[in-house]
Amino acid sequence: MLEMRTVTADEFAKWLSAESRAHGNRLADDPEALRPHFDLDRTVVILEKSNIVGGSHSRRVEMSLPGATTIISGVCNVSVQPTHTRRGVMTQMMQHQLNDFHQRDEALAALFSTESIIYGRFGYGIGSLYERWTIERPYTAYTHPKKSPGKVFFVDPEDTPKELPEVFRRSTKNRPGVFQRELHHWERDSQAQEHSQGGPGGLFYVAYEENDRVDGYATYRSTGTTLVVNELMAATQEATAALWRFCFDVDRMSTTEALKRPVDDPLPWMLADPRRLRRSTRDGVWVRVVDARAALALRRYLREDRLVLEVKDDNCPWNQDRFELEGSPDGASCRVSNKSPDLVLNVTHLASVFMGAVSFSTLAGANLIEECTPNALLRADCMFASQFQPWSPHSF
Ligand SMILES: CC(C)(COP(=O)(O)OP(=O)(O)OC[C@H]1O[C@@H](n2cnc3c(N)ncnc32)[C@H](O)[C@@H]1OP(=O)(O)O)[C@@H](O)C(=O)NCCC(=O)NCCS
Repeated sequence: MLEMRTVTADEFAKWLSAESRAHGNRLADDPEALRPHFDLDRTVVILEKSNIVGGSHSRRVEMSLPGATTIISGVCNVSVQPTHTRRGVMTQMMQHQLNDFHQRDEALAALFSTESIIYGRFGYGIGSLYERWTIERPYTAYTHPKKSPGKVFFVDPEDTPKELPEVFRRSTKNRPGVFQRELHHWERDSQAQEHSQGGPGGLFYVAYEENDRVDGYATYRSTGTTLVVNELMAATQEATAALWRFCFDVDRMSTTEALKRPVDDPLPWMLADPRRLRRSTRDGVWVRVVDARAALALRRYLREDRLVLEVKDDNCPWNQDRFELEGSPDGASCRVSNKSPDLVLNVTHLASVFMGAVSFSTLAGANLIEECTPNALLRADCMFASQFQPWSPHSF
């Protein structure tokens, strides 16, 4: 017999180390130092007698949408002990969380998944994609090389919380799917032990400055002869060109790798020999439309239009309905409707078109969306499109 409830302050350390164990790690951090970042009211623990067999957590985080930002439920710490997997423990937690988010009036949830097979069954869909890159140094020339007007300089890790958050915000403007990193994350990252290691494996920060303003930064490490770019954020074209040039030209490095780039990054288009950039694509954030009516009204739409969407949802009966959406660049409204639908789709696929990770037409081509009125797919594609593809450069 399993019991499900929130975690008490006394059992927090045990709960966290059980989570680490489920992921195959021993807990290295001090649990009490992490405790202030967890809202116990949003934790879930599953116990068998007094043994912790599963757990999860959610935190309220700011995520950008096309034309708007909103607070969503960021699902994390989902774990089931290896002794208790495949008995429905996670299923019980996920359903509990969906009901909880609905009661809290939280229209959207999101998570980063260890495996892409896990969360589709609970109505989560791929909300953003990202690319991983590798390129050899001799092939990094730009088509239009030009001397950068600014300068690249090293930033001490302890200075990053005051220098970089504003650049991060500016360089992700108009980009959906981005989680703004809270100040305590910057502070935690700036104090991470890896900065003090130096040499191979140490993490370095460089920034680009022009006219006394920091317009971009990159975080990288070198492993052998490969320079690995953890993050590169740039608010101007000059900063983009200068920071990549820097990353390609560090002495002794023969290869550059980039871990998480947007699928519409300009860099491949800047290269003179773009086929040399080896690119692989992966799922980024997974989004759950917890309340379709409320969520559809949260974002802005590129083209003014009106559509009736019929949504199928096995986990959230309140979503199993028809919704008449009216949207434009200035705002949106959405209401339950008894009109005949233009499009019929499952909530998982609504999550994938919601921020523009994929078009309605592509999903219809995969037999995942039904078009009921002529031209509805094209109209939906134009309405839901956004200037930039969704991208989630880091987790929450
Ligand atoms: C992933 C994890 C939470 C699944 O927990 P669980 O209690 O075994 O999941 P459930 O028993 O509720 O499984 C529900 C369904 O998902 C499937 N499933 C769950 N995890 C799966 C996996 N990793 N691979 C394939 N299928 C999986 C189950 O087979 C089951 O399918 P069914 O309904 O057709 O029988 C657990 O294996 C775990 O903690 N793994 C290590 C840590 C981790 O990866 N956590 C996820 C963080 S994002």
